[in-house]
Amino acid sequence: MNRIDRETIQKILDTADIVDVVSDFVTLKRRGANYIGLCPFHNERTPSFSVSKSKGICKCFSCGKGGSPVNFIMEHEKMSFNEALRYLAKKYNIEIKEREMTDSERAAESDRENMFNVNEFAMRHFEKNMLETDEGRDIGYSYFRERGINDTAIKRFRLGYSLERGNQLLQQAKAAGFSEKYLVETGLEARREDGSLYDRFRGRVIYPVHTISGKVVAFGGRTLRSDKKVAKYVNSPESSIYSKSRELYGLYQAKKAISEKDKCILVEGYMDVISMSQSGIENVVASSGTSLTQGQIRLIHRFTDNVTLIYDSDPAGIKASLRGIDLLLAEGLNMKVVLLPDGDDPDSFAQSHSTTEVEEYIAAHETDFIRFKTEILLKDVANDPIGRSRAITDIVKSISVIPDDIVRSLYVKECSRTLDIDEKVLLQQIKKFITEQAEQRAQQQARDKARESINGADLQTAAPNAAPQATAEAVASEAAAQTAATGTNATPTTVNPAFMVADRTRAGVLAPYERDIVRYIVRYGMVELPTIDDNDQPTTIRVIDYVLQEFEFDNITFTNPLYSRLVDECRALIDSDWASDRETAEKNSLEQRAKHWEEGTAEIRNTAETLELIQQKERMLLEAIDTEHFARLDRHTELFFIRWLTYSPDDDIRTLVTDLATSKHKLSKVHSKYSHIETERDRLQELLPRAIYALKNAILQCDMRLKHDSLNAAAKQGDMETVKKLMLEMADLDKLRRDYAQKLGDRVVLPKG
Ligand code: CTP
Ligand code: MN
Repeated sequence: MNRIDRETIQKILDTADIVDVVSDFVTLKRRGANYIGLCPFHNERTPSFSVSKSKGICKCFSCGKGGSPVNFIMEHEKMSFNEALRYLAKKYNIEIKEREMTDSERAAESDRENMFNVNEFAMRHFEKNMLETDEGRDIGYSYFRERGINDTAIKRFRLGYSLERGNQLLQQAKAAGFSEKYLVETGLEARREDGSLYDRFRGRVIYPVHTISGKVVAFGGRTLRSDKKVAKYVNSPESSIYSKSRELYGLYQAKKAISEKDKCILVEGYMDVISMSQSGIENVVASSGTSLTQGQIRLIHRFTDNVTLIYDSDPAGIKASLRGIDLLLAEGLNMKVVLLPDGDDPDSFAQSHSTTEVEEYIAAHETDFIRFKTEILLKDVANDPIGRSRAITDIVKSISVIPDDIVRSLYVKECSRTLDIDEKVLLQQIKKFITEQAEQRAQQQARDKARESINGADLQTAAPNAAPQATAEAVASEAAAQTAATGTNATPTTVNPAFMVADRTRAGVLAPYERDIVRYIVRYGMVELPTIDDNDQPTTIRVIDYVLQEFEFDNITFTNPLYSRLVDECRALIDSDWASDRETAEKNSLEQRAKHWEEGTAEIRNTAETLELIQQKERMLLEAIDTEHFARLDRHTELFFIRWLTYSPDDDIRTLVTDLATSKHKLSKVHSKYSHIETERDRLQELLPRAIYALKNAILQCDMRLKHDSLNAAAKQGDMETVKKLMLEMADLDKLRRDYAQKLGDRVVLPKG
């Protein structure tokens, strides 16, 4: 495969001006340092589409779309990455040169590429099996037909079947030239204890999972046996291309309909999506057995503000799911709920009704979420004043997390009517909750501060994007509370997992900390920080190198594969582009400097009277243009990763970097009393080590929580041997934690002087 040559990209990058590119499609007005206009990606009356000339990025603060010029063109013109680059080259009369990929590029690219390719191969293999073998037709195909799925839907969702026997996929994939490595990494093949491989999905019907851009990242396989001992579903394991919490089943097929109808219907399972879609309701997605995560919510939010949940009318499931939905409200989504008739799920309902009937049913039964919650909660407590007041508190809490003032006050009005409570009373209560939430945040900050003075780190500063209480402890105890509320043995499906929000995995706990560190790398990666070398001599270290060194020291890797990829790409950029990019920047800046010098000295000579005055003014001029020159270079250093990564061929990286580059980051303290306001950049030497420490600390807390759980379990069983062992291990971890604190106190980055 050929790539557009680096030099061409460099030229595009240097020439394409975001304001200019966007202005071809959007009328922009200047506002402060930025430009602003009506978002071209969704309907709006007040402009929320903002363009930053200096960062070279545009972004809609309402629907979240935007990015570098190449992102903008891809999105607006529905072009591929390469097409968009060609578009920009043409616009600016840049000649396109192509080149072969280098070996190392090919290697890095090919790991992921190979995994996608082998998945694509497997998907086609399963499809073929189902339609072209006797077993496939008799078992797989006839199963789908019996469940009322037609050929069009089978094709659209690329359904298939994996044969019962042996390792047919393994053999055929190898014969087609795929290496075992990728078959194992994607999880298509699983290893037995004796080391031999078998097709993971054999004897199952297959639901492929696509990314938003249509690549196959994973599979779900459903058994056709009713044997209780056989797991009903087997899914692909997480891998460097697949993270369950970042995908939504059916989104690829649904995204067009979602933006057209400006609404996303959220259901629970594979079959719900397929049956609804087949019946003509195409804007449907499922979170497939994971608790709905922040990442998935944001995926939906890219296409619409409106989400409709369709529930089976199973009361236990509904109750369990109510709590989590507050997070969707807090994300600013408009939530509606449809309750199906007794005994129906979206799948069976869509199968037994016509399109019009389904549409009419949804339209007629779509209830605003808060109203729905009110009904459900009040139903049980009609004659129970305490229960009633608890329910009201719960409802009011949900209202209080809604970010939009106007929407919130509408709900207050409505609830005042339905609950028959004075609006003022409700408002007061809401105010109290909002204050409480703020106080909780502040308390958390104070607690972290306290911890900081013991341990030397500020968790709150380090995890700005986390929910206020999203420390490892809080998340873990939340998980425990949910388990308690839903019964300890609840399988994921009985608690209606699609609608539970807290992501309790280790990756979920660490996510905000990792993201924060990646944010430092993206925004300041090439910035040099003062430090001391092995011989106590002052020297400097780049932010990215500092992070990597710290990671290496404690043997840390990102749990999120996207972050690892990003770091790899940063390293590659330093090797391949930093030097030449820097050279160009220096050359340009020196040219500007020379020009200013010429203009300035001419002016001085024309106006100044004495030689002495001329000399004095020239000295001042020199100082000024040098300051300018170094500021330009500084800016170049700071923007290096953002500039290049927003042109990355990797879709996920471009999106992530755009998000990180535009996310607002508040400093806890701003010294506005003094003439100069401290920026995050000014405080990097202090903030970055803290962010890293916060991650390490969170990792340790996860480990300790795990040990703690096993310890409890062992204690319950009276296994004192294990208890003792675990206690010793926990003591070790605790010591390690204190060590971190110590290290932070006396290592590396010097305090600012
Ligand atoms: N799921 C999963 N892995 C599991 C269990 C469930 O991925 N181990 C997801 C699937 O997306 C599934 C959904 O959770 O579709 C709901 O599970 P369940 O209600 O058990 O299955 P149904 O979708 O109802 O499947 P079917 O109608 O075929 O029985
Ligand atoms: Mn079902």
